[in-house]
Parts: sequence; structure tokens; C-alpha cells
Amino acid sequence: MVDPDFIRQDFQRRIRKIPAQGMGLSVDVYSPDLFELVNSLRERGLQPGYLEIFKATTTALTKVRQALSDIPLAYHGEGLWITQPDVPASPIFQQDLGEMVMQLNSLQSLWLNHECAIKQMAGYSFGTYLPPLYTPLSAQVVAGNIAMVQQAMDRQSARADGTAPLFLLEMPPLTYFAAGTIPIPDFFRLVTASAPCGLVLDIGHLWTVYRYTAVYRQISLERFVGEFLAEFPLERVVEIHVAGLACHGSAGEPKGGQRLPEWIDAHAAPIPLILFTMLEQVLAHPNLVSLRAVALEVDTKPIEMIVEEYAETVGRFSLLVQQAMARKTSVGRLKETTLPPASVQEPVRQSDRQQLRDDYERYAQIILGQAPITGLEWQEVIMEGSGLTRYRTSYVPHEILHWGGDLEEMFPQACRALAERGVCLAEFVDFWFRSPRPLTHSYDFFLLKIERFFEFVTERAPDMSVSVQQECDLLRLAYAQANEVGESMMEMERTR
Ligand SMILES: [Fe+2]
Repeated sequence: MVDPDFIRQDFQRRIRKIPAQGMGLSVDVYSPDLFELVNSLRERGLQPGYLEIFKATTTALTKVRQALSDIPLAYHGEGLWITQPDVPASPIFQQDLGEMVMQLNSLQSLWLNHECAIKQMAGYSFGTYLPPLYTPLSAQVVAGNIAMVQQAMDRQSARADGTAPLFLLEMPPLTYFAAGTIPIPDFFRLVTASAPCGLVLDIGHLWTVYRYTAVYRQISLERFVGEFLAEFPLERVVEIHVAGLACHGSAGEPKGGQRLPEWIDAHAAPIPLILFTMLEQVLAHPNLVSLRAVALEVDTKPIEMIVEEYAETVGRFSLLVQQAMARKTSVGRLKETTLPPASVQEPVRQSDRQQLRDDYERYAQIILGQAPITGLEWQEVIMEGSGLTRYRTSYVPHEILHWGGDLEEMFPQACRALAERGVCLAEFVDFWFRSPRPLTHSYDFFLLKIERFFEFVTERAPDMSVSVQQECDLLRLAYAQANEVGESMMEMERTR
């Protein structure tokens, strides 16, 4: 049985060792080029307090650590699906975990930030994050998986100061819907009661929670944020993210006086002003007592826009961020954590694991339109029916056909030949999700697309197998080379 006091003290012991970083950026190594970005910032007299680096090759991360020796670094992980009930026994997960620890060591990272989200569940693969099921059982599984990852980091981390990176769990964005039986703040309170992790609060993600739950028709955004923060375990928030939001594809802007825009998480897009108003409200909250850092999340954004936004944000917020980071817990101020249900404190039973496995299988089938929307955790989704419909009929097809590799650009010959035979590419979406498939290697959406498209083409037109195989080989080669070229270009930057 896990004692919540012990968990709280364990977190306190860990957070005390993480120094305040102030304002910084959460970035990708290649997109945009990290060294060009840092140079552009320096030309404007700006030096980020820290950089949080998205997963890349270990070689690339090692070079970043060497080249930017004067900037503290943190790590934004990807592909550890800690929401899933099967991961402790999965050899792929263990392999990914080993790689992640190596990458944390390469960066000498302060923490591991990972979204509480999924791109693969029950044998179905997606291109972008889906939120977890917000249920007590799901929280219990997440907490257990985080504890396992933290133990691996404690055992194998090799930071020069002898400390281990801290697991930070990021509240994910909603892309038009969320399913569950408990409010989102309660879910994170259950997780933090059972795992000594910190949290990342992404302000744009918080906006999507307002937009895609029924609450936005009932209360103002300001009141929503106030009520959310009163329940969310804000005392565990170590980092805040702020990133762009934008409408996806066909979704238009609202006409005057109408509903809120259908924005979703979009790191390349400008940061809407409303997020800075929300940031002020969060920074001023008395329960924000563990804050160490605030980052603009700017992967895939043009460098000029990043520099402008960063300069403005530093000018407006650096004092407020300093004040928030200096805030300490005052006795009696924090909301008393009521003891979580006993089930959350105990190891996950096999029957519960099976239950959650079934829940996630149904989750995948419901959002793909393969199963009826029934069950307690889907009640709000039913009331907000248009959100799930938009996800299924517009967002998912775009993801499979265009996102992370446009099929007509990847396979020009095969797509032409299929069109001549009257095979519509949209059929590939149904093919992709036709049945669950066991996962055989680490998640890589681009490589998955190549593999699945080959199978699709050879099923529809067996005589095309040789030609489509050639296109697949070329794509895999180009992909491997692109990673290597990226690394050698970084080498040239570094030695310039
Ligand atoms: Fe984020």
C-alpha cells in the first residue's frame, strides 16, 4: 500500500534538487534548426533560461549538449505510452525506456516531460495524441507506470550532480472530445497521490479542455480556469507550456458573436492573446508553489515568429515568473488531498488490467465509428456529439492520408496507378483501422505509413507489389539518410 504522505515527501525531496530555470523554449532539434534559432535569439540579445528538447536521435542530442554547454537542458519524451495497461510486460516498452534513459543522460536532462496521452492503443495506431480515459482505474495504471519509469531513471541516470531526472506528466490537449467518468483535475490528483511525479500545465491544452467539454457554454473562461485550478494539483506543477492554437483544415473561424473557434493544439501557429491572459491567472495562483520553468513550445514554428513571441513574453512575464518560482507552500494553504480510493494505492490487479484493456479497445472502436457510443465514460461525448463526429470524419482521414507524410507525395507512382484502377485513396483509412494489430516495434508514424500502404496496395492490386516495394525502399532509405544528414549538418553548425 502506498502512503500518500510518503509520495508527497518523495516529490518534495526530488523537486528541492531542481533549480529554478525561469523562461525558456521547448524545441525540436531540426524543425526549425535549433542552432539557427539560438543564434537568432542571441542576435536579439536573448538567451533562453533553458531549453526543453524533443526526442531525436541520441547522436543529435549529444551534439546539442556539447554545442550549447551554457544552457540547461530538459527532455520532452515521446512514445512511452504510460496510459496503457500492458506496458510493464511489453518488450518494446522496455526497449523504449532504455533508449529514453540514454537520451536523458546525453542531454544531462533536468526532467523527463511526457504527455499523459496515447498514439497507440489496443493495436490501433494514430498520428497525434489522444487523451487517456479519465477514470480512477486509468489513473491507477498511469501512476503505476510512472513509478516504474521513475525507478528506471533513478537506477540508470548519470547526471553529473548525482540527481535523477524527475518524471513530469503533461496534461494533454483535447482534439474535439474527452471521455471519462471523473473531472480531469481529479484524475491528475489521483495520479499525483500515488506517484511522486511533477506536472506540466500547458495553457493551450487547458483552453481545449474548456472548449471541448460542455462547460464552455455554461461559464466564462476566467471562471472555468479559477474552478479548474482550485481542484487541479497545482502544487505539483513544475513547468508551464504555452503554444499556438489553430483551426484544423476545414474548420472555419467563428462568425461575429458566435461560438468559440474550434482551435486545437498547433505548435506552428501564433500564440493567441487569450492564452497570455490565462497564463497571468495561473501564475498568480497561491497554490503554484513548485514552479521551476515556463516555456513557449515552438517546434515547427518559423524562427522570426519564435523570436518575436519570445521577446514579447519575456518582457511581459519574466517578473511574474520570478515571483511565482519564489513562492513557497504556506502551511494550511494547500487543498487537503483527500485520500484516494484504496484501489488507487494498490498494485493493479490482473482483472483490472484486463478491464482497462477492454476499455481502451472500446475507446478505439468508438472513436472510429466501429462500436456504438455507450457507457458512462462516453455520456458527455454523446451530449457534445459533433466533436467526435468531426474527429472521426475529418481529422482522422486527414491524419492517415496527409499528416506526417502526404501519401501522394510519398508514393506518386502507386497513387497514380491506383487512381487509374478506380481505387480511391480514402479506402486506405478504412484499411488502416480495419482490425487491431500487435505492435512489433517502437512507434514511428512515418514508417508505419510505409508498411501499411504497401499492404494496402498489394491487397488491392497484387501486380503492383514490385513497383510499390521500390517506392517503399526509396522512402525508407531517404528517411534514414535524412536523419544522418540532419546530424552531419548539425556537426557543421557546431564546428563553424
Ligand atoms: Fe505542451
